[in-house]
Amino acid sequence: MRTLSLLHVTKCYGDLTALSDFTMRFEPGIYGILGANGAGKSTMMNLITDNIQRDEGQILYGKRDILELADKFRGVLGYMPQQQGIYEHMTAESFVSYIGRLKGLKGAELREECERVLELTNLSDVKHKTAISFSGGMKQRLLLAQALLGEPQVLLLDEPTAGLDPRERIRIRNFIKELSKDRIVLLATHIVSDIESIADQVLLMKKGKLIKTDTPQQLIDSIPDSWTPVAHYVSLEDVYLYYLDADSEETGR
Ligand SMILES: Nc1ncnc2c1ncn2[C@@H]1O[C@H](COP(=O)(O)OP(=O)(O)OP(=O)(O)O)[C@@H](O)[C@H]1O
Ligand SMILES: [Mg+2]
Repeated sequence: MRTLSLLHVTKCYGDLTALSDFTMRFEPGIYGILGANGAGKSTMMNLITDNIQRDEGQILYGKRDILELADKFRGVLGYMPQQQGIYEHMTAESFVSYIGRLKGLKGAELREECERVLELTNLSDVKHKTAISFSGGMKQRLLLAQALLGEPQVLLLDEPTAGLDPRERIRIRNFIKELSKDRIVLLATHIVSDIESIADQVLLMKKGKLIKTDTPQQLIDSIPDSWTPVAHYVSLEDVYLYYLDADSEETGR
Protein backbone atom coordinates (compact mmCIF):
# COMPACT_ATOMS: atom_id res chain seq x y z
CA MET A 1 0.00 0.00 0.00
CA ARG A 2 1.50 3.32 -1.09
CA THR A 3 1.66 6.47 0.98
CA LEU A 4 0.95 9.99 -0.21
CA SER A 5 3.43 12.60 1.02
CA LEU A 6 3.29 16.34 0.72
CA LEU A 7 6.74 17.80 1.38
CA HIS A 8 7.14 21.53 1.95
CA VAL A 9 4.36 22.33 -0.50
CA THR A 10 3.64 26.00 -1.07
CA LYS A 11 1.06 27.68 -3.29
CA CYS A 12 0.76 31.45 -3.68
CA TYR A 13 -1.80 33.61 -5.45
CA GLY A 14 0.08 36.88 -5.92
CA ASP A 15 0.86 38.14 -2.40
CA LEU A 16 -1.39 35.60 -0.75
CA THR A 17 0.10 32.30 0.41
CA ALA A 18 -2.84 29.89 0.13
CA LEU A 19 -0.73 26.91 1.27
CA SER A 20 2.48 27.46 3.17
CA ASP A 21 5.33 24.94 3.57
CA PHE A 22 2.84 22.12 4.05
CA THR A 23 4.31 18.76 5.04
CA MET A 24 2.24 15.65 5.80
CA ARG A 25 2.44 11.93 5.12
CA PHE A 26 -0.83 10.09 4.52
CA GLU A 27 -1.28 6.34 4.99
CA PRO A 28 -4.55 4.43 4.49
CA GLY A 29 -7.24 5.81 6.80
CA ILE A 30 -9.57 8.79 7.08
CA TYR A 31 -7.99 12.21 7.56
CA GLY A 32 -10.39 14.94 8.61
CA ILE A 33 -9.29 18.43 7.58
CA LEU A 34 -10.57 21.30 9.67
CA GLY A 35 -10.03 25.00 9.09
CA ALA A 36 -12.00 28.20 8.64
CA ASN A 37 -13.06 29.51 5.21
CA GLY A 38 -9.92 30.30 3.26
CA ALA A 39 -7.59 28.16 5.41
CA GLY A 40 -6.28 26.30 2.35
CA LYS A 41 -8.18 22.99 2.45
CA SER A 42 -9.41 23.05 -1.15
CA THR A 43 -6.06 24.42 -2.34
CA MET A 44 -4.37 21.36 -0.84
CA MET A 45 -6.79 19.03 -2.64
CA ASN A 46 -6.46 20.93 -5.92
CA LEU A 47 -2.69 20.52 -5.73
CA ILE A 48 -3.05 16.77 -5.22
CA THR A 49 -5.40 16.50 -8.21
CA ASP A 50 -2.98 18.67 -10.20
CA ASN A 51 -5.79 21.10 -11.04
CA ILE A 52 -3.47 23.89 -9.94
CA GLN A 53 0.31 24.17 -10.00
CA ARG A 54 2.37 24.30 -6.84
CA ASP A 55 5.10 26.89 -6.42
CA GLU A 56 7.34 24.80 -4.22
CA GLY A 57 7.68 21.35 -2.70
CA GLN A 58 7.00 17.78 -3.69
CA ILE A 59 3.93 15.56 -3.70
CA LEU A 60 4.97 11.91 -3.72
CA TYR A 61 2.83 8.83 -4.21
CA GLY A 62 5.06 6.04 -3.01
CA LYS A 63 8.49 7.32 -3.97
CA ARG A 64 7.66 9.26 -7.13
CA ASP A 65 6.27 12.71 -7.70
CA ILE A 66 2.65 12.73 -8.87
CA LEU A 67 3.62 15.01 -11.79
CA GLU A 68 6.01 12.34 -13.00
CA LEU A 69 3.42 9.58 -12.44
CA ALA A 70 0.82 11.70 -14.32
CA ASP A 71 -1.90 9.35 -15.69
CA LYS A 72 -0.76 6.52 -13.43
CA PHE A 73 -1.57 8.66 -10.40
CA ARG A 74 -4.83 9.97 -11.88
CA GLY A 75 -5.85 6.33 -12.24
CA VAL A 76 -5.71 5.76 -8.48
CA LEU A 77 -7.31 9.08 -7.55
CA GLY A 78 -10.97 9.83 -6.84
CA TYR A 79 -12.06 13.43 -6.32
CA MET A 80 -15.33 14.88 -5.14
CA PRO A 81 -15.02 18.64 -5.70
CA GLN A 82 -16.45 21.23 -3.34
CA GLN A 83 -18.45 22.96 -6.04
CA GLN A 84 -21.11 20.82 -7.59
CA GLY A 85 -19.94 19.82 -11.02
CA ILE A 86 -22.98 17.88 -12.12
CA TYR A 87 -24.38 18.31 -15.59
CA GLU A 88 -27.97 18.45 -14.50
CA HIS A 89 -29.48 17.51 -17.84
CA MET A 90 -27.63 14.18 -17.78
CA THR A 91 -29.04 11.06 -16.20
CA ALA A 92 -27.17 9.65 -13.20
CA GLU A 93 -25.95 6.80 -15.35
CA SER A 94 -24.74 8.96 -18.22
CA PHE A 95 -22.97 11.28 -15.78
CA VAL A 96 -20.90 8.53 -14.11
CA SER A 97 -20.31 6.93 -17.49
CA TYR A 98 -19.01 10.24 -18.85
CA ILE A 99 -16.60 10.65 -15.92
CA GLY A 100 -15.61 6.98 -16.26
CA ARG A 101 -14.64 7.55 -19.88
CA LEU A 102 -12.60 10.58 -18.85
CA LYS A 103 -10.82 8.29 -16.39
CA GLY A 104 -9.96 5.91 -19.22
CA LEU A 105 -12.53 3.16 -18.55
CA LYS A 106 -14.30 1.60 -21.51
CA GLY A 107 -16.49 -1.25 -22.74
CA ALA A 108 -17.70 -3.86 -20.26
CA GLU A 109 -15.39 -2.56 -17.53
CA LEU A 110 -16.95 0.90 -17.82
CA ARG A 111 -20.49 -0.52 -17.64
CA GLU A 112 -19.68 -2.72 -14.65
CA GLU A 113 -17.94 0.08 -12.78
CA CYS A 114 -20.86 2.46 -13.36
CA GLU A 115 -23.28 -0.11 -12.06
CA ARG A 116 -21.10 -0.83 -9.04
CA VAL A 117 -20.74 2.79 -7.93
CA LEU A 118 -24.43 3.59 -8.50
CA GLU A 119 -25.35 0.55 -6.42
CA LEU A 120 -22.90 1.54 -3.68
CA THR A 121 -24.40 4.99 -3.40
CA ASN A 122 -28.00 3.69 -3.60
CA LEU A 123 -28.73 5.38 -6.90
CA SER A 124 -29.43 2.30 -9.04
CA ASP A 125 -33.19 2.84 -8.91
CA VAL A 126 -32.92 6.38 -10.24
CA LYS A 127 -30.06 5.91 -12.68
CA HIS A 128 -32.24 6.80 -15.68
CA LYS A 129 -33.46 10.04 -14.11
CA THR A 130 -31.82 13.36 -14.82
CA ALA A 131 -29.91 14.94 -11.93
CA ILE A 132 -32.07 18.07 -12.10
CA SER A 133 -34.85 16.11 -10.37
CA PHE A 134 -32.51 15.01 -7.55
CA SER A 135 -32.49 16.26 -3.96
CA GLY A 136 -29.28 17.80 -2.58
CA GLY A 137 -28.40 14.51 -0.91
CA MET A 138 -28.88 12.52 -4.12
CA LYS A 139 -26.68 14.98 -6.03
CA GLN A 140 -23.97 14.64 -3.40
CA ARG A 141 -24.25 10.85 -3.64
CA LEU A 142 -23.90 11.11 -7.41
CA LEU A 143 -20.74 13.18 -7.01
CA LEU A 144 -19.46 10.58 -4.56
CA ALA A 145 -20.34 7.81 -7.04
CA GLN A 146 -18.15 9.30 -9.78
CA ALA A 147 -15.28 9.73 -7.28
CA LEU A 148 -15.44 5.99 -6.54
CA LEU A 149 -15.02 4.85 -10.16
CA GLY A 150 -12.05 2.54 -10.58
CA GLU A 151 -11.60 1.78 -6.85
CA PRO A 152 -9.34 4.77 -6.13
CA GLN A 153 -6.56 4.28 -3.59
CA VAL A 154 -6.63 7.99 -2.80
CA LEU A 155 -10.03 9.61 -2.28
CA LEU A 156 -10.35 13.38 -1.89
CA LEU A 157 -13.71 14.58 -0.57
CA ASP A 158 -14.16 18.33 -0.37
CA GLU A 159 -17.14 19.09 1.87
CA PRO A 160 -19.15 16.05 0.79
CA THR A 161 -22.00 16.74 3.22
CA ALA A 162 -22.37 20.51 2.77
CA GLY A 163 -26.01 21.59 2.74
CA LEU A 164 -27.47 18.19 3.60
CA ASP A 165 -30.09 17.43 6.23
CA PRO A 166 -28.85 15.40 9.22
CA ARG A 167 -30.26 12.13 7.97
CA GLU A 168 -28.63 12.35 4.55
CA ARG A 169 -25.42 13.67 6.12
CA ILE A 170 -25.17 10.69 8.47
CA ARG A 171 -25.87 8.37 5.55
CA ILE A 172 -23.00 9.84 3.52
CA ARG A 173 -20.77 9.83 6.58
CA ASN A 174 -21.42 6.12 7.06
CA PHE A 175 -20.66 5.47 3.39
CA ILE A 176 -17.34 7.22 3.78
CA LYS A 177 -16.51 5.18 6.86
CA GLU A 178 -17.24 1.94 5.01
CA LEU A 179 -15.27 3.01 1.97
CA SER A 180 -12.18 3.96 3.87
CA LYS A 181 -10.77 0.47 4.29
CA ASP A 182 -7.34 0.23 2.70
CA ARG A 183 -7.41 3.64 1.14
CA ILE A 184 -6.28 7.13 1.90
CA VAL A 185 -9.34 9.35 2.40
CA LEU A 186 -8.95 13.11 2.81
CA LEU A 187 -12.14 14.73 4.02
CA ALA A 188 -12.47 18.51 4.28
CA THR A 189 -15.54 19.70 6.12
CA HIS A 190 -16.93 22.29 8.51
CA ILE A 191 -19.05 19.65 10.22
CA VAL A 192 -16.78 18.91 13.15
CA SER A 193 -19.03 16.13 14.47
CA ASP A 194 -18.61 14.18 11.19
CA ILE A 195 -14.87 14.22 11.65
CA GLU A 196 -15.09 13.39 15.32
CA SER A 197 -17.02 10.22 14.57
CA ILE A 198 -15.14 8.85 11.54
CA ALA A 199 -11.66 10.36 11.21
CA ASP A 200 -8.61 8.39 12.29
CA GLN A 201 -6.52 11.54 12.19
CA VAL A 202 -7.40 15.25 12.17
CA LEU A 203 -5.47 18.06 10.46
CA LEU A 204 -5.98 21.55 11.83
CA MET A 205 -5.27 24.23 9.22
CA LYS A 206 -5.05 27.97 9.63
CA LYS A 207 -3.96 30.62 7.13
CA GLY A 208 -2.49 28.04 4.77
CA LYS A 209 -0.50 26.29 7.47
CA LEU A 210 -0.86 22.90 9.09
CA ILE A 211 -0.81 23.86 12.72
CA LYS A 212 -1.48 20.52 14.38
CA THR A 213 -2.34 16.93 13.53
CA ASP A 214 -3.32 14.05 15.78
CA THR A 215 -6.11 11.58 16.51
CA PRO A 216 -9.43 13.15 17.57
CA GLN A 217 -8.98 11.85 21.12
CA GLN A 218 -5.37 13.05 21.45
CA LEU A 219 -6.47 16.50 20.27
CA ILE A 220 -9.28 16.57 22.79
CA ASP A 221 -6.88 15.47 25.54
CA SER A 222 -4.40 18.17 24.51
CA ILE A 223 -6.67 21.00 25.61
CA PRO A 224 -5.52 22.28 29.00
CA ASP A 225 -7.90 21.93 31.95
CA SER A 226 -7.65 25.66 32.51
CA TRP A 227 -9.41 26.32 29.16
CA THR A 228 -13.14 26.37 29.77
CA PRO A 229 -15.02 24.39 27.17
CA VAL A 230 -18.35 25.57 25.81
CA ALA A 231 -19.96 22.22 26.64
CA HIS A 232 -19.67 20.26 29.87
CA TYR A 233 -17.32 17.77 28.30
CA VAL A 234 -14.58 18.61 25.81
CA SER A 235 -15.38 17.70 22.19
CA LEU A 236 -13.60 18.18 18.88
CA GLU A 237 -15.56 21.43 18.47
CA ASP A 238 -13.68 22.75 21.49
CA VAL A 239 -10.43 21.67 19.84
CA TYR A 240 -11.47 23.77 16.83
CA LEU A 241 -12.22 26.79 19.01
CA TYR A 242 -9.06 26.37 21.08
CA TYR A 243 -6.58 25.97 18.21
CA LEU A 244 -8.19 27.66 15.25
CA ASP A 245 -10.38 30.38 16.64
CA ALA A 246 -8.00 31.70 19.32
CA ASP A 247 -7.98 35.29 18.03
CA SER A 248 -11.52 35.04 16.70
CA GLU A 249 -10.76 36.18 13.19
CA GLU A 250 -13.56 36.24 10.67
CA THR A 251 -11.71 33.98 8.25
CA GLY A 252 -8.85 31.52 8.24
CA ARG A 253 -6.52 34.02 6.66
N1 LIG B 1 -7.85 31.06 -8.01
C1 LIG B 1 -7.58 31.80 -6.94
N2 LIG B 1 -7.09 33.05 -7.08
C2 LIG B 1 -6.78 33.81 -6.01
N3 LIG B 1 -6.92 33.41 -4.73
C3 LIG B 1 -7.41 32.17 -4.52
C4 LIG B 1 -7.76 31.31 -5.61
N4 LIG B 1 -8.21 30.16 -5.09
C5 LIG B 1 -8.15 30.28 -3.74
N5 LIG B 1 -7.66 31.49 -3.41
C6 LIG B 1 -7.44 31.97 -2.03
O1 LIG B 1 -6.64 31.02 -1.35
C7 LIG B 1 -7.04 30.92 0.01
C8 LIG B 1 -7.32 29.48 0.35
O2 LIG B 1 -8.52 29.11 -0.30
P1 LIG B 1 -9.14 27.64 -0.20
O3 LIG B 1 -10.23 27.59 -1.19
O4 LIG B 1 -8.06 26.64 -0.30
O5 LIG B 1 -9.72 27.62 1.28
P2 LIG B 1 -10.65 26.55 2.01
O6 LIG B 1 -9.95 26.18 3.27
O7 LIG B 1 -10.97 25.46 1.07
O8 LIG B 1 -11.94 27.41 2.35
P3 LIG B 1 -13.51 27.00 2.41
O9 LIG B 1 -13.72 26.43 3.77
O10 LIG B 1 -14.22 28.30 2.25
O11 LIG B 1 -13.79 26.04 1.31
C9 LIG B 1 -8.25 31.85 0.17
O12 LIG B 1 -7.81 33.07 0.71
C10 LIG B 1 -8.74 32.03 -1.24
O13 LIG B 1 -9.35 33.29 -1.39
MG1 LIG C 1 -12.72 24.77 0.30
